[in-house]
Amino acid sequence: MDFKVGVIAGDGIGPEVTDEAWKVLSKVGEKFGHTFHRTDILMGGCSIDATGEPLTDEAIETAKAQDAVLMGSIGGNTSTSPWYKLPPQKRPEAGLLKLRKSLNLFANLRPAYLYPQLKEACPLKEATAEAGFDMLIMRELTGGLYFGARKTHEVNGLMTAEDTLTYNEEEIRRIAKRGFDVAMKRRKKVISVDKANVLDSSRLWRKVVEEVAADYPEVTLEHMLVDNCAMQLVKDPAQFDVVLTENMFGDILSDEAAMITGSLGMLSSASLNETKFGLYEPSGGSAPDIAGMDIANPIATILSAAMMLRYSFDLDAEADAIEEAVRKTLDDGIRTGDIMPREGEGSVTKVGCSAMGDAIVARL
Ligand code: IPM
Ligand code: MN
Repeated sequence: MDFKVGVIAGDGIGPEVTDEAWKVLSKVGEKFGHTFHRTDILMGGCSIDATGEPLTDEAIETAKAQDAVLMGSIGGNTSTSPWYKLPPQKRPEAGLLKLRKSLNLFANLRPAYLYPQLKEACPLKEATAEAGFDMLIMRELTGGLYFGARKTHEVNGLMTAEDTLTYNEEEIRRIAKRGFDVAMKRRKKVISVDKANVLDSSRLWRKVVEEVAADYPEVTLEHMLVDNCAMQLVKDPAQFDVVLTENMFGDILSDEAAMITGSLGMLSSASLNETKFGLYEPSGGSAPDIAGMDIANPIATILSAAMMLRYSFDLDAEADAIEEAVRKTLDDGIRTGDIMPREGEGSVTKVGCSAMGDAIVARL
């Protein structure tokens, strides 16, 4: 079959990691008889440099015309890059937010799984790492603080800044349904994370999530306050199956969940709307400090490509093959710098970004 794949390489380590994911996709194509047609799309700092805008309307149209879009990362060093001297809506991140909103990508799936091979890279207590964990963060992606009204103005002679956190019941219902649907295919447990002891938006969140839960009698629902969740993630991550949460909490908790898998470089993600279209974006940043050095971990992007095959193209066997190849590569002790075992534990081979991609391709 033929598939149209948009590629947003972006900034920093983005081009390196997407190149490795593309190598893997090409190999999958060869092996299973598919053709992935690549169309590059500009977004982020590279788009600012080329067009003055972090994402042009033309780029959005090109993205919409694809079957799915695979992304690297966008942005630069927020203290030193000239991109951050621009007004907020002209900065690299604004491009990503505009893309998510224009394509209505409200459901962001971020699986955080501790590979047994990476136990020695897990920063948690040995017994906790030994027990392992396998969770999926279902993050709402087009509402809340990210998209509410904001302004900076003077109030009573003082510079004052405002950001608004708004959710309506429909926005909560559709993401909650996604959370329960995916829980039905997993261990049937949803932990909904909010701050209902303080926020009105969280109290509405809780109420709507409970209404949705009534349609899923097989799934157990638990509510957890976000501060407690941050603590439970390092104390007992095995208790989590599906973590259902709003945009900002999901952003923060997913970095934490990624780190306990060994590295942010392991966390893949899928951003989906009501159709088969999806934007597949590793959850890590552009890591400008190591850009172009061939030391970034491409696994999150490669696993995001696997998610694309599974969710947008219904190519389950192909997605399984990629995930299996990643497992074998880790089994064989091949590691990028970020997932090296703690000093003195395990014997492994340290490789760079492109060698990691090659190793995974070789095992496909
Ligand atoms: C992420 C990123 C983005 C977010 C940034 C780059 C706007 O941190 O995908 O988690 O906050 O959503
Ligand atoms: Mn983030």
